[in-house]
Amino acid sequence: MYGMVNKYIVQTIQNAYGEKKWMEITAQIPEIPHFSQMKQYPDDITYLIVQKSVEILAVDADTLLEILGKGWIKETANGPYGNYYKLYGDTVFSFLNNLDTMHAALGAQMTDLSPPSFICKNIDSNTICIRYMSDRPGLTSFVKGLLEGLCEKFNYPGHVTIKQVRSDDIDYDEFFIEKTA
Ligand code: HEM
Repeated sequence: MYGMVNKYIVQTIQNAYGEKKWMEITAQIPEIPHFSQMKQYPDDITYLIVQKSVEILAVDADTLLEILGKGWIKETANGPYGNYYKLYGDTVFSFLNNLDTMHAALGAQMTDLSPPSFICKNIDSNTICIRYMSDRPGLTSFVKGLLEGLCEKFNYPGHVTIKQVRSDDIDYDEFFIEKTA
């Protein structure tokens, strides 16, 4: 995963749990590179950071992934890519429909990017259905958090639920965003 994602994960854990806990986590990991934003790193290191954090902090993996997903929207919205949230849609629905185009645009600079893919449709006037596809396993709760963060970002009163987790037969996770107001 790109350095910018890894850096964000490390900083979020450090800020939320403090330097002392972070030292305990790093003691369990053979080597954490000094991440640079625009470089691709093996996914193993990202998974190991999350796995060891879950163990040392005694938090639920899904809870941590959800927090990380939700926070990623704030992180990117307040950073150099903040204008992407204006460029690629003005509602949660239009933005989600443009997400592949947005990641593809990022790929122009980040040439080693291996982005996810999303399909999004309206089931009825209150329900958006999202399918998430990726080469990477285990990120369902991360995506749930991302979708919650997006609802907040676009002031959409939506409740996110996981409807389907991918399996040997189905190669996507499915989510609903149901309007609450
Ligand atoms: C301006 C905002 C965003 C930026 C700059 C950004 C950038 C990135 C980058 C650099 C990666 C790492 C991919 C790799 O290393 O190969 C990534 C992964 C990912 N992004 Fe985005 N992203 C943004 C917004 C979003 C949003 C809004 C969503 C979904 C609602 C999303 C979903 C994901 C997911 C699920 C991954 C994990 C990779 C995977 O599933 O294979 N991103 N993104």
